[in-house]
Amino acid sequence: AAERADLKKEIKALLKARDAVLVAHYYVDAELQDLAEETGGCVSDSLEMARFGRESTHKNLVVAGVRFMGETSKILNPEKRVFMPDLEATCSLDLGCPAEEFAAFCDQHPDRTVVVYANTSAAVKARADWMVTSSIALDIVGHLHARGEKILWAPDRHLGQYIQRQTGADMILWQGSCLVHDEFKYEELKLLKEKHPGAMVLVHPESPAEVVAMADVVGSTTQLIKATQTSGVHEFIVATDNGILHKMRQAAPGKVLIEAPTAGNSATCKSCAHCPWMAMNGLRNLRDVLRDGFDSGVGEVLVDADLGRQAYRCIDRMLDFAK
Ligand code: 13P
Ligand code: SF4
Repeated sequence: AAERADLKKEIKALLKARDAVLVAHYYVDAELQDLAEETGGCVSDSLEMARFGRESTHKNLVVAGVRFMGETSKILNPEKRVFMPDLEATCSLDLGCPAEEFAAFCDQHPDRTVVVYANTSAAVKARADWMVTSSIALDIVGHLHARGEKILWAPDRHLGQYIQRQTGADMILWQGSCLVHDEFKYEELKLLKEKHPGAMVLVHPESPAEVVAMADVVGSTTQLIKATQTSGVHEFIVATDNGILHKMRQAAPGKVLIEAPTAGNSATCKSCAHCPWMAMNGLRNLRDVLRDGFDSGVGEVLVDADLGRQAYRCIDRMLDFAK
């Protein structure tokens, strides 16, 4: 514990010395989330992370999350240096949508508007017309649909199906999925709900359709946290990465939070309900990049300038729409 306290002190001093601000996602370690808030940074969903990074007056950014979040920050702020505790922290959606295959997919459907989820590489975003995050996906696709546009969607098929059902848009879907959310199981959730009939079911839209269908609230991490805070209900069943429980406990003290069941909840399912890549962010590697990365380049997110400019358009369009 003494070592952790020292690390935190060191990180706080280094953030000041480097004129850097810490931007964290709700799925990372609770200590990192708290540090981000204590030091004037932010902890939030993908949309707010992007917005915060762009509006920050600090010279440099440190992103505790996964690779696409760091890349989005760099693309939006090419003049800032952007670091991550571990550049290997990727995302199964990003991994499952390689840029060349995606380009071929787009080439097959030239008449469609290309909408990609934030959880993709800079190269995939460079090919897209719009980027969306889970908190704004419905609004943007609904808007495009109302304008008569047909959509090519990638990569998360569950989120894609959900948007399709809600908006009625004509969508062709890439067949990707998130290894964490894919594990939530309908039958087990139904049994749990029978045991807790008063509980409100909160589901992230990367979950399978039958799980989403059981939800009282479907939304981004920020939207799910808000639901625990604003609804009068006392008990919640939460179907998303369990890193979110830390903020929910703070937002809704005294309320009962129950994790939704995953395939095994057992040794056979190592990544159940916690993203292995989000878990790569820790106090020690955060300290290391702040101490050494500015000189050695370790942990620095670099995006090719031309690719960055290409990818910028679809992100900027979303932020502009979100205003
Ligand atoms: P949010 O934008 O809802 O925070 O989601 C990001 C993510 O990776 C969920 O798995
Ligand atoms: Fe990607 Fe899933 Fe991890 Fe989110 S939880 S970063 S979608 S692998």
